[in-house]
Amino acid sequence: MSQSEVDILGMKAIFSNKLPEFVGQEVGLKGWVANIRSSGKIYFIELRDGAGFTQVVVSEKEVDAASWQAAQSLTLESTVIIQGTVSKHPQKEEFELQAKKIELVQKAEEYPIGKKEHGPDFLLDNRHLWLRSSKQWAIQRVRNTIINSTFWYLNNEGFIKIDSPILTPTSCEGTTTLFEIDYFGEPAYLTQSGQLYLEAAIAAHGRVFDFGPVFRAEKSKTRRHLTEFWMMDAEMAFIEHEGNLKIQEELISFIVEKVLQQNKKELEILERDIKPLQNVKAPFYRITHTEAIAKLRKEGSDIGDMDDLGADDETLLTKMYDKPIFVEKYPSKVKAFYMKRDPKDQTHVLNADLLAPEGYGEIIGGSQREDDHDELLMRMKEHKLPVKDFQWYLDLRKYGSVPHSGFGYGLERIVAWVCGLQHVRETIPFPRLLNRLRP
Ligand code: 4AD
Ligand code: MG
Repeated sequence: MSQSEVDILGMKAIFSNKLPEFVGQEVGLKGWVANIRSSGKIYFIELRDGAGFTQVVVSEKEVDAASWQAAQSLTLESTVIIQGTVSKHPQKEEFELQAKKIELVQKAEEYPIGKKEHGPDFLLDNRHLWLRSSKQWAIQRVRNTIINSTFWYLNNEGFIKIDSPILTPTSCEGTTTLFEIDYFGEPAYLTQSGQLYLEAAIAAHGRVFDFGPVFRAEKSKTRRHLTEFWMMDAEMAFIEHEGNLKIQEELISFIVEKVLQQNKKELEILERDIKPLQNVKAPFYRITHTEAIAKLRKEGSDIGDMDDLGADDETLLTKMYDKPIFVEKYPSKVKAFYMKRDPKDQTHVLNADLLAPEGYGEIIGGSQREDDHDELLMRMKEHKLPVKDFQWYLDLRKYGSVPHSGFGYGLERIVAWVCGLQHVRETIPFPRLLNRLRP
């Protein structure tokens, strides 16, 4: 059966994105009443059918008595099947349905999310319903485009998807943000990133990526932190620091281009200013950590030479540029054990964080990896990691070690930036935050 034409209750129903193909014809739409207003003998229904929002005009003289009665009884979020004739707005690319027949599927009880302003806690408590609001609808569609274009780009560049485990015996990104669970009597952890496992897979496949939920027991209550979020890790054999940045800027440019092409309507609903997005074209800016510190000090910050950048520092920096910037070569002491030291300066590493413009900050963390067995072992001892549990990871440096690099993006950070949102909590269907596990 075609997805666009289904018979339901004796009516041929389509999805609203197909309306342009049916101008002047009679079709059915099935969905939910997102809004309804009346002016005497006419009802205007805003129908949400999954694919979009359509105005349906119901006039008493055009419908049968049962349909008119159904229209009069409609409440917000009632489910309906409506048959009618498709017409096009004379100027705009908008399509409407002149109703002939209305079938009420379920009359909704009084809907808790109304027209009035609600606070974030109320909306998050009602996330199972809030997901239907037009803005939330738009965000999930943009998220979907970002996911699909990521897969598309990476497959096209010769990456294959390798699924890394979620239950792990060790940490990847430091021990302070690990969620510990009891694994039949021994401690295990929810993964923070699949990177280490991808490093194993490159010896089989060359270029690999994963995409899945990762977990950080972040005690931070910021607009950028979730405790469960979706990460895409990519890993490449025979790619060094420079090549790593190139792939990242091309991937991000590609994603933004696809959203601009495929989500015009959604960006409009979100009232997203698309000018800054149109600027997102490779190559991006590159500055070193040392240069970043100098710039921040000039702006009055008292940040030290060897300090990590905080969220505020990132915000300040990104406001100085009109497209994403790589901040590269951080001091080794603020970064993970696996990052390769810069051969020109052993106190810094061959890494980069990619900062999104307009104040958004870090969306990608990546680096060239230490590929020398003895160097890596030394770093692990410095970081007081349990060497025994990482033996398999050290093995990779014994059997066909190779210069290699990779990176991980935070999907929700990218969605928040592309959609122009204040907080990552709206970017994921059911957010998990320091103070929120429900619904
Ligand atoms: O910078 P991070 O910690 O890097 C890694 O985990 C590497 N192992 C990735 C790799 O090289 N394969 O995390 C990567 C990205 C960050 O840049 C950020 O976008 C996102 O994940 N992120 C978070 N997003 C939402 N909530 C959090 N608590 C996040 N922590 C990191
Ligand atoms: Mg990071």
